Amino acid sequence: MKLGFVGVGKIATSVVEGIFKAKINVKEIILSPKNKNNVKVLKNKFSRIKIAKSNQEVLNKSNWIVLSITPKVGKQILKKLKFKNSHTVLNFISTIHNQELKRIISPAKKIFKIAPLPMIKHNLGPIIIYPKNKVIEGFFNKLGKVIATSNEKENKKLWVMTSFMATYFEIFNTAHKWFLRKGINKNKSMEYLNHLFKALNNVTIKNPNSSMDKVIKEFQTKDGINEELLSRTKKSGVFKNLNKGFDKIYNRVK
Ligand SMILES: NC(=O)c1ccc[n+]([C@@H]2O[C@H](COP(=O)([O-])OP(=O)(O)OC[C@H]3O[C@@H](n4cnc5c(N)ncnc54)[C@H](OP(=O)(O)O)[C@@H]3O)[C@@H](O)[C@H]2O)c1
Repeated sequence: MKLGFVGVGKIATSVVEGIFKAKINVKEIILSPKNKNNVKVLKNKFSRIKIAKSNQEVLNKSNWIVLSITPKVGKQILKKLKFKNSHTVLNFISTIHNQELKRIISPAKKIFKIAPLPMIKHNLGPIIIYPKNKVIEGFFNKLGKVIATSNEKENKKLWVMTSFMATYFEIFNTAHKWFLRKGINKNKSMEYLNHLFKALNNVTIKNPNSSMDKVIKEFQTKDGINEELLSRTKKSGVFKNLNKGFDKIYNRVK
């Protein structure tokens, strides 16, 4: 397979890194020339990478095409590109859906919406695929945990949680900064928090069928400090606002 990338930003770079880490057998990876720095770093790091002179050259030289540009750029450039009927298109663009894309890039019609996350670089994390397809799922299975659906509404709902990453890190960072303000050194803070968050994630990984409400109850002691912090956080409206935020993101991606 010859895999071409139109757009070589953060997520495309992570996917290319992930492909080489997983030792996936791709014949060639062809990158669009923008952003020069990312392209140069990847070219220097891996053999089998070619840099195209234009976006059109990426399409001409590849049979699988990854669209990894922002929605705004996509709307500007895609209509000017000549796709082939035989192209398989992997659409990473959050707010351009497959139906709309099909109209823009006709005659290409084998289009899959894919949501990789930066952790794909380490072959970790969920990868949403719509619609289901054995070949596409087989490829991404080596790069992380595939969550495939043939229900478009479900696909759009799953995409909402791809917005959660920075907020998750902000929660981590709030604890980290509190430690630093209180004089705990950086290494000790990171060591403590990394082990805490990893072990907490493990609770739900090990018990996927437990009720989350029950787990939350089990991690509180009557009149204890977990109960107090949760109650204070709830009262401050954090969780209500988080839910409102998810609704807003859903409106954007649906
Ligand atoms: N980041 C994520 O975790 C993630 C996850 C799932 C899906 N996505 C989706 O993936 C897409 C890319 O996201 P990203 O985070 O990788 O953004 P990004 O880092 O901004 O990457 C977009 C890349 O497109 C390049 N570009 C701009 N104009 C171009 C043109 N005319 N032709 C070719 N390339 C052009 C940019 O180059 P310059 O830097 O030189 O401007 C940039 O490197 C978005 O649609 C996003 O919704 C992202």
